Amino acid sequence: MAAKWTPQTWRDKAISQVPDYPDPAALARVERTLADYPPLVFAGEARRLKEYLGDVAEGKAFLLQGGDCAESFAEFRADNIRDTFRVLLQMAVVLTFGAACPVVKVGRMAGQFAKPRSAATEVQDGKELPSYRGDIVNAIEFDDASRVPDPERLVRSYNQAAATLNLLRAFAQGGFADLHKVHQWNLKFVSGSAQGERYEELAARIDEALGFMEACGITPDKVPQLLETDFYTSHEALLLNYEQALTRIDSLSGQWYDCSAHLVWIGDRTRRLDGAHVEFLRGVQNPIGLKCGPTMTTDDLLRLIDVLNPENVPGRLTLIARMGSDKVEAKLPPLLRAVKRAGRKVVWSCDPMHGNTIKSSSGYKTRPFDRILAEVRGFFAAHRTEGTYAGGVHFEMTGQDVTECIGGAQAISEASLGDRYHTHCDPRLNANQALELAFLVSEQLKAERQARQSEAARVAAAS
Ligand code: PEP
Ligand code: CO
Repeated sequence: MAAKWTPQTWRDKAISQVPDYPDPAALARVERTLADYPPLVFAGEARRLKEYLGDVAEGKAFLLQGGDCAESFAEFRADNIRDTFRVLLQMAVVLTFGAACPVVKVGRMAGQFAKPRSAATEVQDGKELPSYRGDIVNAIEFDDASRVPDPERLVRSYNQAAATLNLLRAFAQGGFADLHKVHQWNLKFVSGSAQGERYEELAARIDEALGFMEACGITPDKVPQLLETDFYTSHEALLLNYEQALTRIDSLSGQWYDCSAHLVWIGDRTRRLDGAHVEFLRGVQNPIGLKCGPTMTTDDLLRLIDVLNPENVPGRLTLIARMGSDKVEAKLPPLLRAVKRAGRKVVWSCDPMHGNTIKSSSGYKTRPFDRILAEVRGFFAAHRTEGTYAGGVHFEMTGQDVTECIGGAQAISEASLGDRYHTHCDPRLNANQALELAFLVSEQLKAERQARQSEAARVAAAS
């Protein structure tokens, strides 16, 4: 029998990655304030996402999750939100149309503020300060005052998340996501590129298909899905003080939901079975994610699945593999096999970003685009071999024309990283690279679906 859970039982467990607040009473006051604020998402929405992810777990749909590594107060502008949203829409269209597969769209947006760090302190020119832990905790500037954790940042993050979500809801439901506007989602700086042209060709085919459907009587007044889309939010549930304050009982089901986002996940550094983060997430009914890095063992994973999804509900748990392009081939198959053998229903998603971060000779943290592609290919290959379903992808990307990951069709070089390097944490794909990746994923997905269809036809013919 699992021990009793409440939104605060995590406080009795070992915890890592916690900021050192100088004034705990001030933090507690902020938590009480937030606990009285309205929820950001509704339980019913999280339940719907869980159902869609259940379709993904069963191989009937595909998960596309992406957005900033770390949202920041400085980059909080409508055009940034719009441009990330529209690149996600473009990627989704490439996948839906290219691979004829429904796509579940989830942003790393409207709450992705807290960051785990590999070291508690950072040294620059002989001076040592606490590490930057994301704008919800402290400021990125390297001086004493900036690095002190400030509880008021939780309130500012909540407000920014609320405004971001408000805009996302308007974009998703208010006409911007209308399929008739596929051409307009192409950003100016992308449209002249090879990816942009490829996208234009696909958009033209969508136009034709829409025209055909309209001629057959399938019009937006009868099928409103043509005009709008479902879009969900997600972030790493790292700062549990914030997550607890937004955790509420759903009046319909009587169950607890973390209403800070539709989906929340556990990071690779905080997935200890007996730790605070696993304790907190096991008790909320949202769909949840679990990052699986190269040190994850099959035993650990099966125990974590038992705790996080004891009822084996498809869609409850998304396992986000982030092995690194050089490790995916050796590390992923044993996990796929063990989960399959145990009959556990999960979504397998691929994060090709976090295992492929390197330091460039110029000192920037970067990610070689070819390694990102290699990990995606390795992920699909492992699923093919094991007979499991490659259900999704998880990217750090932005709609801005940044130079943070090297390579890709634009061939961003190490020397040009400094041109437009804006991230507050990890290097992100720019719009061009994100689109290039979407085309690759769509090819893999199409091949996989065709292979499954011919296998099904072969089995049917043989019986
Ligand atoms: C992240 O997703 O930004 C992150 C820190 O990932 P991981 O926990 O996989 O390192
Ligand atoms: Co990151």
